[in-house]
Amino acid sequence: MALEVKDLKIYYKTLKGYVKAVDGVSFRVKDGEILGIAGESGCGKSTLGNSLVLLKPPMNYIDGEVIIDDQKLPIADYEKMRSFRYRKIAIIPQYAMDALNPTRKIGRMLKELFESIGVPFETMIPKIKERLKIVNLPQNVLDMYPIELSGGMKQRMVMVIASLMDPSVMIADEITSALDASSQKAVVQMLREFRKRGFVRSLLFITHDISVLYQIADTVMIMYAGKVAEIMPMDKILRDALHPYTRLLISSLPEVGIRYTEKLLEGIPGQPPNLLNPPEGCRFKDRCPAANERCFEEPPFIQVEENHWIACWREVEKRA
Ligand SMILES: Nc1ncnc2c1ncn2[C@@H]1O[C@H](COP(=O)(O)OP(=O)(O)OP(=O)(O)O)[C@@H](O)[C@H]1O
Ligand code: SF4
Ligand SMILES: [Mg+2]
Repeated sequence: MALEVKDLKIYYKTLKGYVKAVDGVSFRVKDGEILGIAGESGCGKSTLGNSLVLLKPPMNYIDGEVIIDDQKLPIADYEKMRSFRYRKIAIIPQYAMDALNPTRKIGRMLKELFESIGVPFETMIPKIKERLKIVNLPQNVLDMYPIELSGGMKQRMVMVIASLMDPSVMIADEITSALDASSQKAVVQMLREFRKRGFVRSLLFITHDISVLYQIADTVMIMYAGKVAEIMPMDKILRDALHPYTRLLISSLPEVGIRYTEKLLEGIPGQPPNLLNPPEGCRFKDRCPAANERCFEEPPFIQVEENHWIACWREVEKRA
């Protein structure tokens, strides 16, 4: 097992109280597996991804455990995480390509980055050049400023940076969202190539775009309001999804292209709850067509088939 997350709780401390952004999330990622993570804006996808690599205020670790390659990952200890960051687990954060420092040439930025993790830059140069070739970036990109790169090129550059220490798990947060369709395809193909060549072993691929998940994910995890609604094999989602939220998500997608954006999600009546003060019981109950009085209690997370997990009372009742 590459990664195991058990009952993870990550809250933001704010003046109004705790925002329960990740609230009891459990899942596993096998060696070589690509787990797609989807759900409406604000459901906690980035908080989950960031907390596994870069947990810092106002994010607070509340509870839970993370195991990577049979070793406990000290996510709550920013300093101790230094020896795991990039080496065992790496992230391409949401908006990373816009965050490249505009006043630094790419090469100098990489030098500073490697020095900050105690790796001499010179030793990395052959590897960097090899990977630039794989992602179709020119070798002289190291002498360029970020502004000289297109969006697709910047995204491929941050993919190279995140993969350089050959992490067991790489988290890619919305890396295709700002790209046109052909750049999206190229990015997805390159990630597959990274996995094939062993640059990364397993991937968490966070996106709003289910059509991209279709191209890349083995398994899909649907999140709702800081919790996991359903985990299942990606290729079975259209036919076999059971959670009322997953079913509504799918039905709000157009037949072809199956892309969902915030706009399309307006097709589901109502709004996700405020995570400062989420409702008791199932957090989806105010929008759920199948809700009943049972749903005022928190549904357990049950396994319904191999690789298929769900948190919904309806499925518990069916099996009672
Ligand atoms: N720095 C912060 N302080 C307080 N609350 C925050 C902070 N960052 C995020 N949140 C809240 O945490 C919740 C989860 O946010 P998160 O960014 O993880 O969602 P997301 O699923 O990645 O959304 P998106 O699809 O828009 O990227 C939201 O309610 C958000 O408002
Ligand atoms: S637990 Fe109840 S409210 Fe929640 S998804 Fe299932 S049926 Fe709907
Ligand atoms: Mg996000």
